[in-house]
Amino acid sequence: MSTLLHIDASPRAERSVSRQLTHDFASAWKQAHPDGRIIYRDLGHNPVSFVNETWIAAAFTPADALSPELRAALAISNQLIAELETASEYVFGVPMHNFSVPATFKAYIDQVVRVGRTFAVDESGYKGLLHGKSATVITCSGGAYRNGSPLAPYNYQEPWIRAILGFIGVTEVEFVVADGLSEVEFGKRDREQYLKPIREQVQRAALAA
Ligand SMILES: Cc1cc2nc3c(=O)[nH]c(=O)nc-3n(C[C@H](O)[C@H](O)[C@H](O)COP(=O)(O)O)c2cc1C
Repeated sequence: MSTLLHIDASPRAERSVSRQLTHDFASAWKQAHPDGRIIYRDLGHNPVSFVNETWIAAAFTPADALSPELRAALAISNQLIAELETASEYVFGVPMHNFSVPATFKAYIDQVVRVGRTFAVDESGYKGLLHGKSATVITCSGGAYRNGSPLAPYNYQEPWIRAILGFIGVTEVEFVVADGLSEVEFGKRDREQYLKPIREQVQRAALAA
């Protein structure tokens, strides 16, 4: 049975473009995989906790030496990593916030990037431990940051997401970019008309997943 991990990181609800697009993706994916299972995480409305000193101590303690306190500190991380391991397809809806990702998405990544669980390190270097996964990352931004545009050097969102997913072994990543949304927000462009080709791209990505 195929499993899709669907994550939203927008703090907005109905107004959120990334939520609309990940919802489109999940619906199309479900149609193509009627027996498939979808695991859903709403980071925008139910953020996960930040890592703290106990978490760090626990992450670097061998599993068989964990005290009850250290074990408890890793409970959320273990659950989130299990979701990444169970699913073979991921769809992430990630708005741009201050040229990067929302803090809720960063907190999620801090919980799942864990030595011995999602990456390994030895004398030959770092190795991602998630295998056979593919991700569709739907990014939304008010401005436009594509290569060659004046704002391109400010895009700390897509390159960072690509780097961190690659670090844990997720190298098959397609980005769907809904940018220039401030024109939609300020009513200069019709939202559905603007989104039409992007929704078609999302549909194609979901059917290929
Ligand atoms: C706190 C905050 C910071 C933002 N920072 C940026 C930014 O740095 N660059 C940009 O182009 N848009 C920025 N935006 C606009 C959002 O990326 C845009 O509204 C996008 O549609 C948000 O995704 P959503 O519709 O799924 O919530 C920001 C919005 C918020 C709320």
